Order: sequence, then structure tokens, then C-alpha cells
Amino acid sequence: MTEIRPSEYEEIIYDEALVPAYTLPDPLVHAGERIVDPQIWWQQRQTILALFEQHVYGRTPSLPIQLRAQPSIATPVFGGSATRQEIVVAFTDRDDGPHMTILLYLPIQQKPCPIFLGLNFYGNHTINTDPGITLTMQWVADDLAAGLVGHQATEATRGMQATRWPVEHILERGYGLATIYYGDLDPDFDDQFQNGIHPLFYREGQLQPDPDEWGAIGAWAWGLSRALDYFAGHPAIDHQRVALIGHSRLGKAALWAGAQDQRFALVISNNSGCGGAALSRRHFGETVARINTSFPHWFCKTFHHYNNREDELPIDQHMLLALIAPRPLYVASAAEDLWADPRGEFLSAKHASPVYQLLGTEGLATDAMPVLAQPIMSRIGYHIRPGQHDVTGYDWERFMDFADLQLL
Ligand code: GCU
Repeated sequence: MTEIRPSEYEEIIYDEALVPAYTLPDPLVHAGERIVDPQIWWQQRQTILALFEQHVYGRTPSLPIQLRAQPSIATPVFGGSATRQEIVVAFTDRDDGPHMTILLYLPIQQKPCPIFLGLNFYGNHTINTDPGITLTMQWVADDLAAGLVGHQATEATRGMQATRWPVEHILERGYGLATIYYGDLDPDFDDQFQNGIHPLFYREGQLQPDPDEWGAIGAWAWGLSRALDYFAGHPAIDHQRVALIGHSRLGKAALWAGAQDQRFALVISNNSGCGGAALSRRHFGETVARINTSFPHWFCKTFHHYNNREDELPIDQHMLLALIAPRPLYVASAAEDLWADPRGEFLSAKHASPVYQLLGTEGLATDAMPVLAQPIMSRIGYHIRPGQHDVTGYDWERFMDFADLQLL
């Protein structure tokens, strides 16, 4: 990852009093006219989606890809109460070509069940100590504390992210869980898009995505939709009740996937921050300039134009959340995670709410930011919990409470 020299940046704002005055674009205004007819929203939705494609995440190529799925046998786990399966989904007809491995846990039950689907940071084997999970062979980020060097997964990292994935408890509550290592889709470093899935879509002679074509977040989101394609044919999964969940950069990817692909029934953003749920114009915590410099490969090149010019953006992130309407959406913040701007995440949910209301749902049932650990469980759900940037047991309990209310 690119080193940041502090002198390149103005000071990061962590003080509410220093947030600049700003005016948000209104998702319900088109060419100066207010939209009052829910039918018209669906045209407006297309316009807003196109703006996010052009200016923020880049266009996802529409070229169809023939998926080749090779499922393993479903093996009983956790005392026989559930099964574990791994599905290798290849994106070309070459076995050594790009592919992703879906790790799938399902409770034993008669009916197809709803599932949570999310990308993970260090490989499927890091979400649980289950020795049957295949160790990823992909590039992984180094982490000295975890003993990860040379970008290779190790046996010792089995379960290293287990606190973020309470697998057994999710199964007990009647949900399945599917996860994919995000590096299967595009390893998270700036290589001008030579590895990962981008090259599959290049025109003859094209060497990297055009300025308005997708970056890494677009590729991660694409993988989530391809997993959903696969679930549609899986007899034990209720593919109409797939809840997307993502933390941090993977929360940005979950929101973008849920915005583009309306087949996702519910979307959860956990601490997704800048370029995710947080409003860019607040300039609080991580800014557009900062994210585009630290992670030049995440968004499309056009987004870099808005470094320190957030006011020129034709959208802000509340409009990304509005693209998920009227489907249930949950935004979660953490009090000490100021880098992700918790208040900006809340305000984004609040300003998406009028679109939900136009479509006949409740939207977010509060105007004021709730106090710590007081979840709002309306069609747009929200909580801020004490503590740091992370996914905790508290977060998962609320996500499952919300899914119980909105999906069952
Ligand atoms: C960095 C980055 C954030 C991102 C986070 C993460 O902190 O600046 O935008 O959300 O990494 O993915 O953990």
C-alpha cells in the first residue's frame, strides 16, 4: 500500500465544528423538478446509478461470463447440525484462470434457507478454525503480528478473523453463511489491473480500465453478484433472501453490489466510511483525496478529479444508499471509528430516507442520531456501538435481529 506523507495533506478533521458548510444533491429532484410519483423514481434511479458508475466506482462491464462451478461434497460440521461446502467458481474455461472459492455453511433444515454473504480480508480459512477449509493460494496482505510475510497464507492464520464471523451462532439462528476471499477477485494492491478479473474484460489491445471503468471495489462487488448467480441454482439456499454484509472497504463493495444488483434482498454496511456510507462533503475523517491517494486502485480514475472538490460531485453517498430502496438496509457505525465518520454514516442513512418513504416504506425512523447501542430497526436500520473499527458479536446480533424482522 502507498505510504502517505502527512505533509501532502491538510489536517484531517475530527471536530464537528470544523465540518464545512455543504449542500447535498437531492435524490428526489430531477432537472429542477421534484419527484412525487414513485414510478418516476425508477427512471431517476437509473440516472443516479449511471452517475455513480461514471464518477465514483466506474462502470462494470456487461460482457457475459460463463461461470463454471465445481462444488465439493457438503460435509457435516458442528456436531452434524450444519454442512460445510466449498464451491470453486471459474470465470473462464481454463482451470488455471481467475476463479473464486465460495465457502458455504448451511444449517440442516427442510426448507431453503436465507443466507448472509460477505467478502473476507485474509482468506476463507481465517473466518473459522475449521481445519477442513482450504487455505487460500492467492496473494494476501502481509501482517507481521499474524506472521504473514511474503503475501502467502499460513496454517497459523486459520481462524485469525473468527471473532468477525460467529459461524456457529449464525447457523443456530437459522441462517446460512457464505464468504469469499476478496483477493480472489482482485488482489488489493495497485498493479494497474493486471491481475484479478479486470483483464478478462479488456478490449483487444486494452491495457487497463478506462477512466470511467471499474476499479477494485467494482470487481469485488461483481464477485458478490456472481455468487448470487450460483445460489440461484442451489436447492438448499433461498436466493431471494440473500443478505449482503461487508465491513470497511468490503462494506463499500457490499453497498455498491447492492446498489447495482436488485436481487440482493438486504444490505448491511459495517463501518464502511469514506466511499461507503459516509457523506463525502462532510470532509470528516478520511476524505476523497486521502482515499484516492492511499488506494488509487479502489475507485475509477474519474473519481480522483474530486480530490478536495467534493462539492463538484453530482452525487453524495446518501444517494448510493437510496439506490437500495425500498429493500432493507442497515448501516452500522462504531463510536471510536472517527476515520469512517460515524455521524456522516448516520446522516447518509437519514438523507436516503425520503426515497424509501416515496416508495411506501418507513425509511429511517428517527431524525436524531441515536445514543450508543440503541439500534433503530426501521426499514433503514442503524446503530452506533461503543468501541473501534471492527465487526463484533454485538454487530452480528443486531444484523440478525434486523434480518429476522425484514426477511423472515
Ligand atoms: C483504511 C481505509 C478505509 C477502509 C479501511 C478498511 O483505513 O482508509 O477506507 O475502510 O482501510 O478497509 O479496513
